Amino acid sequence: MNTHNLIGIEDLSASEINKILNLADTYANKLKSGNFKSDRLKGKVIFTLFFEDSTRTRTSFELAAKRLGADVVDWAPERSSLSKGETLSDTIMTLNAMGPDAIVVRHKEYNAPRFIAGLADCPVINAGDSYREHPTQALLDALTMRRRFGKIAGLRVAICGDIAHSRVANSNMILLSKLGAEVHVIAPAALKPEKFPAPGVKAFDSMKEGLAGCDVVMMLRNQKERMASGLVESDDAFFRDYGLTYEKLAFAKPSAAVMHPGPMNRGVEIDGDVADDKERSLILEQVRNGVPTRMAVMDLLLKGKL
Ligand code: NCD
Repeated sequence: MNTHNLIGIEDLSASEINKILNLADTYANKLKSGNFKSDRLKGKVIFTLFFEDSTRTRTSFELAAKRLGADVVDWAPERSSLSKGETLSDTIMTLNAMGPDAIVVRHKEYNAPRFIAGLADCPVINAGDSYREHPTQALLDALTMRRRFGKIAGLRVAICGDIAHSRVANSNMILLSKLGAEVHVIAPAALKPEKFPAPGVKAFDSMKEGLAGCDVVMMLRNQKERMASGLVESDDAFFRDYGLTYEKLAFAKPSAAVMHPGPMNRGVEIDGDVADDKERSLILEQVRNGVPTRMAVMDLLLKGKL
């Protein structure tokens, strides 16, 4: 990679993705066997800037940084001078002047992480922007699949629901295609993007056709905050046609695993019993894998090893 930032999966080669996943896998094993703590990033200071709400991503970046011995400064827009009329670029230049070793940013604007990277002297990590990219989510999803199936290449993965407004879907389509998985997207016409970010993605309208032969069924939330009103008829109608129930899961392989980046809306895109199924559902495993994945990303970027 010719930059020291992680803005999108689109900037990574397959070998760079595998390098991150290999280290993430090592960290996942270490975390599993006890309360792992290292001083690999001791003395480093990481700023987290979340301009949009977050539960999993913000917490796991913080935990990952602390597990590696770094200090975290969490900056919140609602408690900042943005409310006094300071521009985003002045805010970033101000924070940059304090000398952080990395900046983690989530923003609703398409180009915000790249814009911030242009102003900062340290690595910038995108924690989700607009509907475009959420690279660490796709990496933790890939780690979860790899640990479950032992590989990514050759898996058939269905990504279902609100594809058009999902940065998770976008980053996953790019990553999975780069690593040789077969990607199906299943969505009603109104929630399907006009074009896909990766070659070879196959689009379906029906869960029955799209789920056939799938190893992984990844469900997405309807992101109403980014949607024009009226795109989805009603939650009940959506659940009837696209909500993942045991009945629809039976269209996939008997060994198929269920994934969801969270936050979930039970009874809309997924049935609660399916989400809680200890055999089939990897949803909490995805959350767990967020920490080692972000440890690997910060380790490699801050050490200049990516
Ligand atoms: C998602 C996000 O914020 O991009 N969640 C996450 O980070 N795990 C998906 C969503 O908001 O639906």
